[in-house]
Amino acid sequence: MTTQIIIEGFNISKNYDSFKALDNINFFVKEGEIVGFLGPNGAGKTTLIKLITCTSFKTSGKLKVFGLDTEKDQKKIKALIGLVPQDNNFDPDFTVYENLLVFSRYFGIKRDEAEKRIQNLLNFVGLQNKRDEKVTDLSGGMKRKLIIARSLINDPELIILDEPTTGLDPQARRKIWEMIEDLKKNGKTIILTTHYMEEAEKLCDRIYIMDAGKIITWGNPKELIIKHIGTETIEIYNCEDVKLNEIKGKKIFFKDRIYIHTDNKKEALEMLTDICENIKFTVRPTNLEDLFIYLTGKELKE
Ligand SMILES: Nc1ncnc2c1ncn2[C@@H]1O[C@H](COP(=O)(O)OP(=O)(O)O)[C@@H](O)[C@H]1O
Ligand SMILES: [Mg+2]
Repeated sequence: MTTQIIIEGFNISKNYDSFKALDNINFFVKEGEIVGFLGPNGAGKTTLIKLITCTSFKTSGKLKVFGLDTEKDQKKIKALIGLVPQDNNFDPDFTVYENLLVFSRYFGIKRDEAEKRIQNLLNFVGLQNKRDEKVTDLSGGMKRKLIIARSLINDPELIILDEPTTGLDPQARRKIWEMIEDLKKNGKTIILTTHYMEEAEKLCDRIYIMDAGKIITWGNPKELIIKHIGTETIEIYNCEDVKLNEIKGKKIFFKDRIYIHTDNKKEALEMLTDICENIKFTVRPTNLEDLFIYLTGKELKE
């Protein structure tokens, strides 16, 4: 069985006047995957989501969503997608239930069917007790859950979540991660954007790492770490850098730390303790933040 490619983007650019918000990017999304776009603020993630969801148009390149043209088949594409936008855009005068009902009407869902779906979706996101509350009375985490429920009202094949957990506490974040994993188990295809490396590492089958409108690398999170820098990181707080060149592994000087990325922790540690006296360090698995710093010289978070 071959897995279908449902989104294909070739050489896509998006300019705002002379500013390149997206600069010649290539990507694809396969059916059933969770694909992440990981990058700091301003990387171009939301711009890309807007192109896929037909709310903004590319300057150049080719973009197919479900084999359809984003400039000609907007209605068909929108019917197949559920979107969780970066900013919650509810109608503040309405209750939880009313917000979902209004949305069901955009998709022409009949009232009886809409009632059933709303009930199921409120159960899915755990907001059944909040049905008749004003959305303005919900916590940040509940608002995000409601907007996930809203994105599912048309039973979309593809769900796109633009920074689903930004600003949420760890508990609310974990709940939303569980929901995303459940959606994948139910066969949905998922795209998410994030600047949280834990989120990308935990959820995504493949990630595209973005910075300043470009895709700098892509692949499975673990494989990217192995390919570029190695699975172990020695984080050093106080070693003089003079002798570090003798140590095997990739060395990065960043802020007040030195990082050695290696696949051979034992060898690197032996050399390190040989040449640096009273050294203070920790050893931990390499993560996507390390990879981002290695590739760009910057952190994901400001
Ligand atoms: N409508 C717009 N007009 C001009 N510049 C824009 C517009 N939308 C986004 N940008 C710029 O494009 C860049 C990418 O923005 P965005 O896609 O929102 O990034 P991200 O979602 O990764 O934080 C930013 O520098 C932003 O200021
Ligand atoms: Mg954004």
